[in-house]
Amino acid sequence: MWLTGLPSAGKSTVARLVERQLRKRGRNVEVLDGDVVRRNLSQGLGFSKEDRDTNIRRIAYVADLLSRNGVIVIVAAISPYRAVRDEARALIGERFIEVHVHAPVSVCASRDVKGLYAKARAGEIAHLTGVSDPYEPPTHPEVVLNTEHQTPESSAATLLHHLDPRTFP
Ligand code: ADX
Repeated sequence: MWLTGLPSAGKSTVARLVERQLRKRGRNVEVLDGDVVRRNLSQGLGFSKEDRDTNIRRIAYVADLLSRNGVIVIVAAISPYRAVRDEARALIGERFIEVHVHAPVSVCASRDVKGLYAKARAGEIAHLTGVSDPYEPPTHPEVVLNTEHQTPESSAATLLHHLDPRTFP
């Protein structure tokens, strides 16, 4: 499940909730969270288009390895560029579920979980996705979560239901 969306849209929160539910049910699951990946596998990469694309290709590579061995992989990364998300889709094939974690930028900025929007306003960071850097929303996502109006729990339930409507009615 590939969760894409603006900073503070709710990707990591929903990913962790889904992870917990799946573990409870004894499923093998891994979360590939952009923040975590950037501290290890993608250490040293920045936020240019090129570096973001490299980051996403790495995540897609690992997601493919894991998911083809029966691990449910939940990616939580901004992944702002459509073309490289589509590369991930092509690589992963029918297992790929694109989830647009959507909230208006004003809502994300008011949440500002990591203080990024405040820093962008203060001129301390450039190229913040949604503010001073592009975000290309998915054109045909399998799922759209509207986190402005949905609780994290209800978003997680939507995803679980999408995975297996019989186990997660
Ligand atoms: S992506 O664009 O390459 O998909 P990713 O999800 O891995 O991004 O990483 C986003 C995280 O990097 C944010 O949660 C934030 O902590 C940090 N970050 C630092 N600078 C920026 C920036 N300019 N734009 C977006 N995220 C940033």
